[in-house]
Amino acid sequence: MLAIASDHGGLELKTKITAFLDQLNIGYTDFGTHSADSCDYPDLAELACKAIASGECDRGILVCGTGVGISIAANKMRGIRAALCNDLYTAKMCRLHNDANVLALGGRILGEGLALEIVRCWLDTGFEGGRHAARLEKIARLESSNR
Ligand code: RB5
Repeated sequence: MLAIASDHGGLELKTKITAFLDQLNIGYTDFGTHSADSCDYPDLAELACKAIASGECDRGILVCGTGVGISIAANKMRGIRAALCNDLYTAKMCRLHNDANVLALGGRILGEGLALEIVRCWLDTGFEGGRHAARLEKIARLESSNR
């Protein structure tokens, strides 16, 4: 199960992504926003990332205007490894090497075609493990030692 969320700046792209997931028969929970009214991306990041941290969802896709704010907010949450991807290479490598469990996208940056290919690539790519797993353990240690 995927967790999906956006602020108003990412709403249009989020709607295209959920339609794409429907086509692919991929399950998701949409944590909002559901209107074009201005809202705060940290609130939406928190809702989706809590569902990932609790195990209710496996991974998540977050969208704001640039993808920057919502990825920064997501990365403040324990266990979240959010990667802002505006290209296919990053979408692939953040899964292979970083086991990114959140994909962040810029709704005002990406065209629909590229955004959906990024989503597809990120969903289809697995974590390589090996030496990369040890690096993720170091990130987890940073997270617990900096509280
Ligand atoms: C909202 O106007 C905009 O600041 C937000 O969507 C995002 O781009 C922040 O990083």
